[in-house]
Amino acid sequence: MNAPTPTVRDAIRLRRSATRLTGPAPTDADVVSLLAAAANGPDHGLLRPWRFILVRGDRRADLGRAHAGGLPPGAARDREVGKPLRAPLLISIVFAPRVNPKVPEWEQLAATSAVVHNLGLLLHSAGWGSIWRTGPASRCPRVAAALGLRPGERSLGWLYVGTVERVPPPRSGPDLRDRVSTLSAPGAATPLAPAAVLS
Ligand SMILES: Cc1cc2nc3c(=O)[nH]c(=O)nc-3n(C[C@H](O)[C@H](O)[C@H](O)COP(=O)(O)O)c2cc1C
Repeated sequence: MNAPTPTVRDAIRLRRSATRLTGPAPTDADVVSLLAAAANGPDHGLLRPWRFILVRGDRRADLGRAHAGGLPPGAARDREVGKPLRAPLLISIVFAPRVNPKVPEWEQLAATSAVVHNLGLLLHSAGWGSIWRTGPASRCPRVAAALGLRPGERSLGWLYVGTVERVPPPRSGPDLRDRVSTLSAPGAATPLAPAAVLS
């Protein structure tokens, strides 16, 4: 398990995607409790354009089978069927954009991403591991049907969740020198002083 991380800064700094996950996984009640907090993300118009579907046990293989439906029996098909089994819990991320004159779809996607990342951080802080996975299965109409997606909804993939087998080391942050500047005159941004970027 991850060591619990008490502060937001530590959780953000130390969180890593966990590619190898085993049981146990958080219960439905655990997930709902974390989501109640994660849902408090920035959301223009408070449209809450998302929902989540928890997938466990044999239902995971159903998703793999749905995606592999077009493949002949063999190794490639087995690989697809096995992919959703890489974690004991899959949290399907469903994007449900609304038509709104003030909030374009990209803003609703941004709000949904914020909730998903909040949830990943909260899972990490609670000692669970997760990784956001997409791939062709997330765009497969047969998988969408297996999930029972409604017209207008779109799968954004899954948070694979479980117990971390091997905790990846913290990642050092990106070089911010070319990514942060100050607008010093109209149309002209100048780099920050090195001390400001490094501190
Ligand atoms: C929208 C989205 C989709 C992702 N899809 C995949 C994926 O399909 N497979 C995968 O291995 N990782 C996926 N990732 C995780 C990234 O690979 C991972 O965040 C990146 O390698 C950085 O590693 P870190 O999260 O440990 O810092 C996805 C991340 C995001 C935000």
